[in-house]
Amino acid sequence: MRSFFVLCLGVSFVFACMVQPATARPQKRYDKHSGMCRFLADGGRLDWESEPWGTGGIKFREVCKSCHHKNNTKGARFLHAESYTSDAWNSIFAKRRKKCARDGSWDVLSPEELQLVNDYLYRNGDWTYDPNSADSCG
Ligand code: HEC
Repeated sequence: MRSFFVLCLGVSFVFACMVQPATARPQKRYDKHSGMCRFLADGGRLDWESEPWGTGGIKFREVCKSCHHKNNTKGARFLHAESYTSDAWNSIFAKRRKKCARDGSWDVLSPEELQLVNDYLYRNGDWTYDPNSADSCG
């Protein structure tokens, strides 16, 4: 009886380990521009909780998408978070060599806001979406 109990305990432990949710979305991001590691799951800092898109997502839509929306007349390609992979977004923000970064179009955003936009795009970039680990499912 006792060994059966121990066996059950062992089996349930193994199962508990197996059902640990796999985290698809990146939780951290190394920011080359500032040389710092940013914790993306830190709700307090990035306010994913209070605003569904977080400040980064809002600023991306307010500023970047003001040019990069569909059928725009500014000569800017349509962009959304999945236009690039997480690493590609990091590189775009680290180098800042794209036309709009050089001509001052990004300057309406503060350095901190640019980091938040980078965080948002990194977190939601191409290949990061996993329907089985949606953040909003508790
Ligand atoms: C004032 C308009 C404007 C704003 C604001 C703007 N861009 Fe651009 N962006 C452009 C134009 C014009 C180009 C050059 C044409 C192109 O490649 O889309 C460009 C190019 C780019 C490219 C290169 C596209 C490619 O495929 O080569 C990226 C990436 C980019 N912008 C990202 C951003 C991000 C991120 C933001 C916000 C932080 C932003 N842009 C804000 C106008 C803008």
